[in-house]
Amino acid sequence: MSDHRSPDTGFRTSLLEENDGPAVNPTDNRTMGEIIAARFSRRGFLKGSLAVSAIAATVSPLALVAADDARAAEASAFTFDELEAGIDDKHHVAPGYDADVLLRWGDPLFADSPEFDPAKQSAEAQAKQFGYNNDYVGYIPIDGSAEHGLLVVNHEYTNPHLMFPGIVKIVDKDGKKAAEVAPLSKEQVDVEMAAHGGSIVEIRKDGGKWQVVRDGKLNRRITSNTEMQLAGPAAGHDRLKTNADPAGTKVIGTFNNCAGGVTPWGTYVMAEENIHGYFSGELPEGHKEAANYKRLGIPEGAYEWGAHYDRFNLAKEPNEANRFGWIVEVDVNDPASVPRKRTAMGRFKHEGAESIVAKDGRVVFYLGDDERFDYAYKFVTTGKFNANDLAANKDLLDDGTLHVAKFGEDGTVEWMPIVFGQGPLTAENGFASQADVLIETRRAADLLGATKMDRPEDIQPNGANGKVYVMLTNNSKRKAEQVDAANPRASNAFGHIIEISEDGGDFAAAKGKWEVLLKCGDPSVAEVGATFSTATTANGWFGMPDNCAVDSAGRLWVATDGQGPKATGRTDGLWAVDTEGAARATSKLFFRVPIGAEMCGPLFAPDDQTAFVAVQHPGDGGEDWEAFGRPSYYEDLSTRWPDFKPDMPTRPSVVAITKKGGGKIAV
Ligand code: FEO
Ligand code: CA
Ligand code: CA
Repeated sequence: MSDHRSPDTGFRTSLLEENDGPAVNPTDNRTMGEIIAARFSRRGFLKGSLAVSAIAATVSPLALVAADDARAAEASAFTFDELEAGIDDKHHVAPGYDADVLLRWGDPLFADSPEFDPAKQSAEAQAKQFGYNNDYVGYIPIDGSAEHGLLVVNHEYTNPHLMFPGIVKIVDKDGKKAAEVAPLSKEQVDVEMAAHGGSIVEIRKDGGKWQVVRDGKLNRRITSNTEMQLAGPAAGHDRLKTNADPAGTKVIGTFNNCAGGVTPWGTYVMAEENIHGYFSGELPEGHKEAANYKRLGIPEGAYEWGAHYDRFNLAKEPNEANRFGWIVEVDVNDPASVPRKRTAMGRFKHEGAESIVAKDGRVVFYLGDDERFDYAYKFVTTGKFNANDLAANKDLLDDGTLHVAKFGEDGTVEWMPIVFGQGPLTAENGFASQADVLIETRRAADLLGATKMDRPEDIQPNGANGKVYVMLTNNSKRKAEQVDAANPRASNAFGHIIEISEDGGDFAAAKGKWEVLLKCGDPSVAEVGATFSTATTANGWFGMPDNCAVDSAGRLWVATDGQGPKATGRTDGLWAVDTEGAARATSKLFFRVPIGAEMCGPLFAPDDQTAFVAVQHPGDGGEDWEAFGRPSYYEDLSTRWPDFKPDMPTRPSVVAITKKGGGKIAV
């Protein structure tokens, strides 16, 4: 998700207000006949007049749709009983499953970690506890086990108005109640910095239930204060040098780590996404980084870190922002290892770094750049994966070719190499080296003519069928004249999913074919133009696809970000999406989050017997829900934490979903 100050409340919060698509009925109170009729009219429109008249001449449209629904339902790869969509303050899972909270913000990870106490937060305590908002979730087996491993979790960002008691005041503004957030103290900023980054946590399944191994020997917190090394072509470049690091190779910390990945050699990769918010101040007049920073929206100043730490103030440390926006790789087997920022993989608002070994042994990473009208990328290593000696893959990510996607109107996709000296990436356009090209990846991709997408989020290769799924979450700013084949809707409030088939089934291929798997949104509202299969129920459709996963059977699961009362009348959740055969584009709701939360993860244990999901910022969004310990935004939030009880659904959490009685999920 993107985190900005809300114009309504001043809170650093989600971009819910941007998901302002056509009005939808939040209730589910139409008859089945109305739903079928609405679907039929959409199908008729999609399939053309010939199909419609042929149908009309023979059988009743309702009978035909019902028959189609039955065929699709029969062909579905998912057998669970669907959960009902809705809105309340709790999480819910489909019948027959347990959804147990495994980790929550503030949970102690080490022997000497203090217990969580919202009234006594400190940076020291937070650095020994599970961090705030959790986005990416990965699992790295210990000794090959599906029941004992390391859970790696990105802590993307912080919501101070939900974290700190007493910082919100209600004021009268032009005769209306408005909220004012007090400036954070240095101590609160320090808590925020410690709440970002990632957690590496040993977990074990005992008697069918997952437990955290407190003080596991590989447990680790990575924060915005963890020392890291810059590696690859841009390391040591002048544009990465600062007063604190005249060599341009040592960075302190990582932040806004959104979706990420685990490599085939068992390291944890964290993608630095909305880095612009952490910088404030102004570059010196005429500074050479001005255009570079503008292209990334730097500085945005949503965070107050620059008021307390000079490195986040562009006036004082103009190069620091060039040291963020990278992919970070962490060796989880050594808690003292120095994470590496892998500059070969480009610098942008990185989302996701899911990987797969190509036919010839090179490793391919799919990377989104989550901004309206930005691009989809893939990185192909030069070296080959060594499965026999995992340590030999240690620096594979320092050498390879980054590519950006051009989606043709004819259904082909071209992966264009981003290489200094090739095409327009030359001195004439201000690039003196590959380091320059990587530091300004977006500008290089602009020059190559990449296709401007509707906010590329997670991109997932699927080894089971050779396909790649691209989540495009939404783009309310796309105008009718900006519509193209790969971004087919103007004012795209609900997003879509593209499926890529790389040429020859080779993930490293330079070209492929693509098609739209799904246009999202409510399929019963004609002007939305959603394309779920006719077998999809009123609970089964969704908007704003964001993170995703494939299980080991190759089935697609999609998590959403940005639904809610105003946008879709349902909370975010996890949907199972058929991609094959008659059931293709049928979607079913499996899990949903409390109001105000975003659905992240998701991740399947290697034996498919657990789905780990991450619940970010429950309670954000301004609605009245007593269980959150506050009546609404427009009251003093100091009423929130004094009433704190450990089981309140207020804390970002990782939830482990298992089938009652055991067995594989959804089989
Ligand atoms: Fe952090 Fe693009 O979601
Ligand atoms: Ca998200
Ligand atoms: Ca995301």
